[in-house]
Amino acid sequence: MRRLAVLLLMLGAPAGAQEGAAVFQSRCGHCHAAAAGAPPGPGPNLAGLVGRRVGGDPGFDYSPVLQAAGEAGQRWDEAMLARFLADPEAMFPGLWMGANGLRAEADRAAVARFLAGR
Ligand code: HEC
Repeated sequence: MRRLAVLLLMLGAPAGAQEGAAVFQSRCGHCHAAAAGAPPGPGPNLAGLVGRRVGGDPGFDYSPVLQAAGEAGQRWDEAMLARFLADPEAMFPGLWMGANGLRAEADRAAVARFLAGR
């Protein structure tokens, strides 16, 4: 199944839920867990991210820029997440993520859908 998803991505097929999971695993999964209750790794746990406030994993020590955004009441939604992934540093200058976003719009949309749980 995973091989199929990778093949579809290589062929440039529109990314669906399966592809969102595959892109997440290969591009985000070594830093972020997406399962509820999993401990944070180098990055915060992203389970239940959509609807959660920015900087909302209680087990993770966030940068000042994400802490301030959360304290100001910012919450993640799918559209915001897709924009974030286009250029994470542009949305939150001073971010500690140490990773670029995703170049392909279809990948960004698929990962945002995956993290929204649909
Ligand atoms: C090299 C490790 C690394 C990779 C790869 C990575 N991230 Fe992150 N990510 C982090 C760290 C560290 C933070 C916390 C940054 C801060 O505190 O400024 C973060 C923060 C985030 C946040 C904010 C979380 C919150 O609770 O508000 C989101 C959303 C996010 N990453 C999504 C992703 C996605 C999606 C990918 C894959 C495309 C990805 N990240 C790839 C390390 C990584």
